[in-house]
Amino acid sequence: MKKEVRKAVIAGNWKMNMTPSQAKEAVAATAKLVEGKSGCDVVLCVPFVDIASAIEAAKGTNVKIGAQNVHFEKKGAFTGEVSADMLLETGAEYVIVGHSERRQYFGETDETVNKRAKAALDAGLFVILCLGEVLEQRQAGITAEIISMQTKLDLAGITAEQMKKVIIAYEPVWAIGTGLTATPEQADEACGIIRGVIAELYSAELAEATVIQYGGSMNDGNAAELLSKVNVDGGLIGGASLVPEKFSKIVDAAQ
Ligand code: 13P
Repeated sequence: MKKEVRKAVIAGNWKMNMTPSQAKEAVAATAKLVEGKSGCDVVLCVPFVDIASAIEAAKGTNVKIGAQNVHFEKKGAFTGEVSADMLLETGAEYVIVGHSERRQYFGETDETVNKRAKAALDAGLFVILCLGEVLEQRQAGITAEIISMQTKLDLAGITAEQMKKVIIAYEPVWAIGTGLTATPEQADEACGIIRGVIAELYSAELAEATVIQYGGSMNDGNAAELLSKVNVDGGLIGGASLVPEKFSKIVDAAQ
């Protein structure tokens, strides 16, 4: 495995937190703390209504802004949804798709995740594609099967060229927001399985170049050890990304 061919990506997922004015302050504070830290890419994925103020605050810094969801149709009667073109025009560069909270609470399936990913890629956005097993699946010993299947279904029809803009986030559902982190070995193993599937679907070279993050209770205390693993190329961070001091320490760990 050649970790040196990949640049780590440390991304925050703010989830449903921060008003636009709070976002402005938090992005500015984060940007100040991560200034000059060029060893990884730094992204904050914020609620739709925060994107404008987040982008304003991130201007001229090394923080990039993303959204947390995108609809797959270009436009039309889809009340409450936001298209990829709309996101692109705000200046957002990234979008999370398939987060487990969307799968769990909003009926997201591998099919809709795949459609959303394709729409975002067609528009030129970077996609952070989330997948991972639930506790019962891990306990039943079928983690490898589950994440392999999700990888195949979620990437269906995405071209090798488009894969240059795909980041995979392995997020075991049992580790999200629970304070229960996967061990570095578990994270490395799962990210390695996903990389193997990508090699099968595309090529070994493309698999080596794909950034695969770990997410699930990653924080300033456990990030260094998780990120030291050969298959773990960054993190998707929820709770700790809301606190600039904590988030910037994770960025430090990725340098
Ligand atoms: P926590 O870091 O709060 O566990 O959330 C992880 C996550 O869901 C990131 O997308």
